[in-house]
Amino acid sequence: MCGIVGYIGDGNAKDIIIDGLKKLEYRGYDSSGIALCRDGKLMVRKKKGRISNLEEYIAGEAMDSHLGIGHTRWATHGAPSDLNAHPHTNMDGSIAVIHNGIIENYVELREWLAKEHGVVFRSETDTEVIAHLISVFYEGDLTDAVYKAMEKMRGAYAIGVICAHEPDKMVAVRKDSPLVVGLGDGCNFIASDIPALLKHVRQIYLIENNETVVLTKNDVKLYNAARQEVKREVFNVTWDADAAEKEGYDHFMIKEIHEQPKGIRETLTRRLDDERNIKLDGISMTKEEIEQFNKVYIVACGTAYHAGLVGKYIIEKLAHIPVEVDIASEFRYRDPFVDGKTLFIAISQSGETLDTLAALREAKRKGARILSVVNVVGSSVARESDDVFYTWAGPEIAVASTKAYTTQLACMYLLALYMGKEKGVLDDLSYHRILDELLAVPDKLQTILDNEKSILEMAKTLYRREQVFFIGRGLDSSVSYEGSLKLKEISYINSFAIAAGELKHGTIALIEQDTLVIALATQNFLFEKMLSNIQEVKARGAYVVGLAKKNNTEIEKQASQVIYIPECADEITPLLSIVPLQILAYYIAKLRGCDIDKPKNLAKSVTVE
Ligand code: M6R
Repeated sequence: MCGIVGYIGDGNAKDIIIDGLKKLEYRGYDSSGIALCRDGKLMVRKKKGRISNLEEYIAGEAMDSHLGIGHTRWATHGAPSDLNAHPHTNMDGSIAVIHNGIIENYVELREWLAKEHGVVFRSETDTEVIAHLISVFYEGDLTDAVYKAMEKMRGAYAIGVICAHEPDKMVAVRKDSPLVVGLGDGCNFIASDIPALLKHVRQIYLIENNETVVLTKNDVKLYNAARQEVKREVFNVTWDADAAEKEGYDHFMIKEIHEQPKGIRETLTRRLDDERNIKLDGISMTKEEIEQFNKVYIVACGTAYHAGLVGKYIIEKLAHIPVEVDIASEFRYRDPFVDGKTLFIAISQSGETLDTLAALREAKRKGARILSVVNVVGSSVARESDDVFYTWAGPEIAVASTKAYTTQLACMYLLALYMGKEKGVLDDLSYHRILDELLAVPDKLQTILDNEKSILEMAKTLYRREQVFFIGRGLDSSVSYEGSLKLKEISYINSFAIAAGELKHGTIALIEQDTLVIALATQNFLFEKMLSNIQEVKARGAYVVGLAKKNNTEIEKQASQVIYIPECADEITPLLSIVPLQILAYYIAKLRGCDIDKPKNLAKSVTVE
């Protein structure tokens, strides 16, 4: 989704902003632009496509400046084009705005601005109305004009604004879209995400909803909606900037796939004491509260939703609490049955997904207890939850989520074990059996990663396919959804996942000679049933790739190729089985020449509806 960077200070704003925008490329974008204040005027340059297009366009131009804003756009209103790219300006070009989010009443505002103020629009975007609105209210004080414009706007936005008449100031606002401020020495920054700033600062202000920030090179002031100044604690970023670099890997995705043993180990061991009891430090749920929950709602989007599907299975099995899993964009408009006895679990890598955040707020309004499973410390979902269960995946840059998913799963297991034990429904033997299995996962995963070449060889035989079906039963069906999503989002192969038992209720009609079917058969108690499903598709001509535990070699009689995972308890398999599917998706996409870390049309952090 759109990326925002702004700079004020003695350095070269252009270089600092372009560099920051590059760090935000992973969020997904289709055009970029920059506005710089120079000699009492604003210079605005924008280009469709990659940031390198913008760089080429402005190469050689004299653009020294100490104040500027830059943007990577992910099109919502109006196609990707030079004109629709941000920043947008008012009619005389003295005010420039960058924006992440959507202005819901922009049509109405456009009409009003055109009719009442003679505004002539140059783009099709909702953002352009912000620049004109601020201009209409501008009487020499940019902050005041921004406040007045906000009163007219509905929707979600993080904006950065500069004005040629006030070259020593930048104003930014956050309403439902992420915004951080970087505090430098003689310089200050705004950005939609911390990685954009890490080269320059470690001290950050996390801006809250409905707050306005006024930045000069030596000062940052925060104000609430009532225009009162608010104080904020400085957030110190402890993770290393290098963690957001590729470190010799061809893509972030494959680097992040390889970081999974570490991420899972960290996520597990940080929550265990010396006696191997799970300690939920910072999570204030008491035994009594856990006992009175009569329902768990897990709500998320995309990959995080798929982690929730596994969570349902595990929590129901180990903690004996009924669990519903819902897609956040559906939950929020469904008037779901949630009350004070509901534990609402929001899962989100970024912690900024707008639908997940909105669902969380809806559940909170209805009295549910909110626990979030989040990777980004200090993100909106984390801040608005009663308790946060952090995943220790480290920054995830590739759009395709990998290590966030497996660490989310690790959290689901710990939570289920913890609640099962607190409720007294899980005996010690079962608790330790599962815990032992979990702790063995990182080493077992390493053996899969060490065997990566065999999956590359398999990818070479499959990468020209244009259609794939993933099938599985029980936990394998949840993993099938994630395996299928991984493949389609980075390789653009038409990929579809279905519970194997559902095949003959419709989908089997699509199976014909040579159709590729990836069949997950890791569950011992469902193994024979999966063999039958494989036979069914084979009988219609399917080419089957099987995925099974090492000892279940019987599958070789049915499948043309097999991926094996190490032996483990049935309950644990998702943590292992997804990894070869991630690697397979990666190599298939690579062989197809796809832009793996930045797939078309996708954004890392979906901060609009
Ligand atoms: O940041 P979140 O976990 O809330 O993001 C949710 C989805 O947008 C995300 O998982 C998406 O499906 C991934 N690109 C899939 O790889």
